[in-house]
Amino acid sequence: MKKSEFYEYGVSCFLSKDSIERVLCKVLWCSREDLFLKQDIPASFLYDFQKYVYEFKKWVPESYILWQQEFYGREFYVEPCTLIPRRETELLVDVMRDICLFSADMQTSSYIDIGTWTTCILSSLILELHPLQFQDIYAVDINSAILKLSQRNLERHHIAWVTLLEWSLLSVFLSEKKSLQKTLYISANLPYIKYWDEKNMWNDVVKYEPDSALYGGNKTGFELYTTLLHQCFLLKNTYKLKDIHVCIEIGYDQYDYSQDVLTELWLRFEYFTDFRNIKRVIYISGF
Ligand SMILES: C[S@@+](CC[C@H](N)C(=O)[O-])C[C@H]1O[C@@H](n2cnc3c(N)ncnc32)[C@H](O)[C@@H]1O
Repeated sequence: MKKSEFYEYGVSCFLSKDSIERVLCKVLWCSREDLFLKQDIPASFLYDFQKYVYEFKKWVPESYILWQQEFYGREFYVEPCTLIPRRETELLVDVMRDICLFSADMQTSSYIDIGTWTTCILSSLILELHPLQFQDIYAVDINSAILKLSQRNLERHHIAWVTLLEWSLLSVFLSEKKSLQKTLYISANLPYIKYWDEKNMWNDVVKYEPDSALYGGNKTGFELYTTLLHQCFLLKNTYKLKDIHVCIEIGYDQYDYSQDVLTELWLRFEYFTDFRNIKRVIYISGF
């Protein structure tokens, strides 16, 4: 069959050219470049192609149909129960990369990514900083079911030196002695939506994405982050750390709450704005 016939079928089902190409790459197990070079596609692939297109017609999010999502220019496996990595979150990688690159002791420091799930933040950062490396790297998530997916994504990107931990926030470091260098970097994209805030959320998010990745507390949604900040103080004392640098992603309505909490804790902080002009990432230091 001509490749154009597959495109025509996809367009008739309201798929964009981009989605058609992503489905074709998935069905043919090939890259965009290889797809571009093909003129004909064996008719035997039509059934699989139509199967995926049918899912699109049911308005299932594309990442859940293709079981993967691009983040920071690389593909990550996702599963139907996974939070889909967001474009906004790429800002957290930008900010953390710059902080690490400007720091004198990055290569003698440790790194912890909290709420790691697909490892999209951690893997992107490691690959962006390569060949520079941290001494110890940990990826923590409270949800045991997803650590297999984290491992698959680390393997997909040939990252072998990360310790995966199924724990809440920094509790494991406070209850067991781990190897941590004097300087510590922490990234966290924790759940930060207030419970019962569905009216301000997209339908797709409420319908398909897991609650455990979305809701961060009853009053402000910033509660998990507040606990994390308190744990950073404890960690600094327990391990006699010199510096802790923390980067977190927050919700569109959390500028005021977060500022109050950070000011009350006498921390230094700086906000970074995403492409929608929302204050999305905070860099925190001074623990
Ligand atoms: C918003 S998702 C972020 C996933 C991924 N880091 C990203 O940016 O796409 C939040 C993640 O935090 C995890 N999580 C929720 N509460 C946690 C806790 N107390 N400690 C560690 N991880 C937690 C969830 O399981 C989920 O994987």
